[in-house]
Amino acid sequence: MTAFIIDGKAVAQRVKDEVKTAVSAMKDQFDYVPGLATVLVGDDPASATYVRSKQRTCEALGIRSIGHHLPADASQAEVEGLVRELNADPSVNGILVQLPLPKHLDEEAVLNSISLEKDVDGFHPVNIGRLAMKGREPLFIPCTPAGCMELLAEAGTTISGAEAVIVGRSNIVGLPMAMLLQKANATVTICHSRTRDLTAHLKRADIVVAAIGRARMITGEMLKPGATVIDVGINRVEDPSAKRGYRLVGDVDFDSAVAVAGAITPVPGGVGPMTIAMLMKNTLRAAEIALQKRQS
Ligand code: GUN
Repeated sequence: MTAFIIDGKAVAQRVKDEVKTAVSAMKDQFDYVPGLATVLVGDDPASATYVRSKQRTCEALGIRSIGHHLPADASQAEVEGLVRELNADPSVNGILVQLPLPKHLDEEAVLNSISLEKDVDGFHPVNIGRLAMKGREPLFIPCTPAGCMELLAEAGTTISGAEAVIVGRSNIVGLPMAMLLQKANATVTICHSRTRDLTAHLKRADIVVAAIGRARMITGEMLKPGATVIDVGINRVEDPSAKRGYRLVGDVDFDSAVAVAGAITPVPGGVGPMTIAMLMKNTLRAAEIALQKRQS
């Protein structure tokens, strides 16, 4: 058996096309253009690349992009002050503070200071709390987990009643992913670095979400045949034959997993493109919320 390969690039393009059409209609009907503010603190090259990519995608979809770059030694008051300014700016619908922040900053306090209606990352404690609770709905769902849900839908995977195993418990991916799958009625297990027998858990899993940040850690022989495997990992491994001297691989060993899984996301071209697409969708939603407020 060889798995169905879930084409994240194609799904992301579909989402972006829908957003672009809706943005254009909003401009025509209401003379209103959504705006996304990005806040980058410091000079981490990976973060800078991600932010640039988010800004470029905004521009391609007709969303206004407002970039702020603070120095690595910016104070807590400066960062929170900027967020408050953006909260008050009616031309800004979404605020994205790129994580991780430099170590001297209090990330929780910064995320707490973002207005709930502009929290397009879905990391505000109230949005995360609502995601965790039964019968409550957050205004925004974190982008990477939301993208993973779209990819599960693309694969035609049944979530309700399924055994789902998430490997990794980060605030950005593992934790909100677990909450989303639970809301969709999966039976959810979160595995992490202290899990005693990862394979025993994986062997039972109809759905595997790998978000640990360790290259090719999950191999085909650890999986249940037919499982849907969503690989969130983006790891650099040395490759002298590659132009840059490295290539990107996931947390799943694709070559062995593809022979066992029912469906699998590749790296690159799986989850990666979905994160930005879902951010664009959240920004459109933030603009819709702002428009509704303006009209009422
Ligand atoms: N760093 C890694 N992923 C993300 C993300 O989805 N949003 C933000 N703000 N920072 C990140």
